[in-house]
Amino acid sequence: MPSYPDSCPRSRELFERARKVMPGGNTRTTVYIDPFPIYAVRGEGCRVWDVDGNAYYDCINNFTAMIHGYGQPEAVKAVGKQLPHGTAFGAPTLSEIELAELLISRLPSADHIRFANSGTEGVMMAIKAARAYTGRAKIVKIEGAYHGSYDFAEVSLDSNPQNWGDLPASTAYAKGTPQGVLDDVMVVPFNDSEALEAVFKTHGREIAGVLIDPMPNRAGLIPARQDYLEALVEAAHAQGALVIFDEVISFRLSHSGAQGLWSIKPDLTALGKIIGGGFPVGAVAGSAEVMKVFDPTLGKPALPHGGTFTANPVTMRAGLAAMEGLTPEAFAHLDKIGQHLRDGTNAALAKHRLTGRCVGLGSMFKVHFTGNPITDYRSVYPSAAERRKLNTFHKGLLDRGVLSASYGLFALSTPMTETDAENILSAIDDTLKLIAHQ
Ligand SMILES: Cc1ncc(COP(=O)(O)O)c(C=O)c1O
Repeated sequence: MPSYPDSCPRSRELFERARKVMPGGNTRTTVYIDPFPIYAVRGEGCRVWDVDGNAYYDCINNFTAMIHGYGQPEAVKAVGKQLPHGTAFGAPTLSEIELAELLISRLPSADHIRFANSGTEGVMMAIKAARAYTGRAKIVKIEGAYHGSYDFAEVSLDSNPQNWGDLPASTAYAKGTPQGVLDDVMVVPFNDSEALEAVFKTHGREIAGVLIDPMPNRAGLIPARQDYLEALVEAAHAQGALVIFDEVISFRLSHSGAQGLWSIKPDLTALGKIIGGGFPVGAVAGSAEVMKVFDPTLGKPALPHGGTFTANPVTMRAGLAAMEGLTPEAFAHLDKIGQHLRDGTNAALAKHRLTGRCVGLGSMFKVHFTGNPITDYRSVYPSAAERRKLNTFHKGLLDRGVLSASYGLFALSTPMTETDAENILSAIDDTLKLIAHQ
């Protein structure tokens, strides 16, 4: 059996064709793999097939969005029923009320919700809502945490040892980022209450809100400490700033998201991914008091917000089916197979005498090949040798029928059985063995 990339000649052909019409053949930076990505042709349950006929356990699940994998019967039925009646109107529909009611019933902190078309937009609306509510400009964010492509949310996303300096220094993610954007974002290390308190002490009255993902994937997928989140809420509220939870990913952690798990009530929550049942979606939710910045019934709102495809009934119906399928039992199953894979991966690392650790919670885990104590972005920033291991891990898993993210992230789906989890673990074990012998 040839291994990647030789196992994927048709993907290579498609990539060459794509290069003629897209920069670097790419329209989504995150899906690029060197030398070329594998092109998907179909998915079924927890598996996905590429154009060359190779089958994979899908442990990316569209970067955590496809929590039911592919072809969830209820979502397929709901979408099929909606399509002939119209896919998007210049008018609201019943479907948005139904999904809003379900999400509000699950989010302990939220009275009201507003939909958008991506997680990026959900985060953007949350930041703008915090600014509109407080009349302040600055936000605080965690170094290395990803929150989508809004300029302010991207600050210090990929800082490196050459430019990261002493926090709260901000670094630009994209060339051409205006200095004003960098000036209005204060960057702090994850899980560090002292650093956060220091920023609030100096700039407290200029800060609209603190943006935090309680288990930030790109900053290491390390769960927040309970006392840290409590101190964060206290520090923000003491200065009249709002707490914004980015639950675009972490809403897949429990029936009531990360805020349910940690019993924290943020003022605003950004959502996306799983709540659209496989269709483009985003949302911002929060207390009625804060969310009134969007209310148009009393004249022009403090924060107007539109969106041509926002709350379209196809997304809303698919989202409703996906969320209804996420019962407490479904979460218990995901937690069980997730823990089995984390434990099994840590055992395999030890068995093969590899330095590293598998971290995460619930249906997500990530492998770091570092011996450092894992605390924040800097502690897991990979050295050149660790990057090579990650690359071998990713490609080795592809050859063993497991699709994971190139930076070591795994996100599981409800159709995965315990046998599937065992097969994934055996591919992980085999690939770690390969790395150990390199
Ligand atoms: C934590 C987090 N926030 C926001 C976003 C942006 O969501 P979208 O890609 O739907 O714009 C992502 C996307 O991966 C994310 O992981």
